[in-house]
Amino acid sequence: MKTSVLMVCLGNICRSPLAEGILKNKVNPEKIFVDSAGTAGYHVGNKPDIRSIAIAKKNGIDISKQSCRKFSKNDFKDFDLIYVMDKSNYKNIISLTNKVEEINKVKLLLDEITIDIKEVPDPYYDTDKGFKIVFDLINTACNTIAEKLT
Ligand code: 4NP
Repeated sequence: MKTSVLMVCLGNICRSPLAEGILKNKVNPEKIFVDSAGTAGYHVGNKPDIRSIAIAKKNGIDISKQSCRKFSKNDFKDFDLIYVMDKSNYKNIISLTNKVEEINKVKLLLDEITIDIKEVPDPYYDTDKGFKIVFDLINTACNTIAEKLT
């Protein structure tokens, strides 16, 4: 059976589209389905932020065809693993359920790796350098996730 992984951030235009594209690039699509969503609906239907598209492209990954969507309660049923970028995403998501088995699906992405920081910083108001830091953090965590799932 396929394992399904959902990457979640606030806007679904900067961090989680990168996480979706990066993990997809590391796993067999026949075995693992990867998607992303945002806890807010500000950008629904939009492509990822051009700075996320650019840093992905620089690393050989095309995320330009992705379309922003908002996290829905159904995602708890549709996905086996839900990775959030920060603690505020975590709070927002678990406030939508009181089922322990659903809450247990939600994990902080950076808990997958040994690192001082616990959250992928929101790069929306940052510079290109911020997007590179975000790319590298997500890429390292996705190496571990891909290894675990393969
Ligand atoms: P993301 O970044 O959560 O990584 O997609 C953001 C994108 C948009 C906004 C905030 C964060 N915004 O306020 O519109």
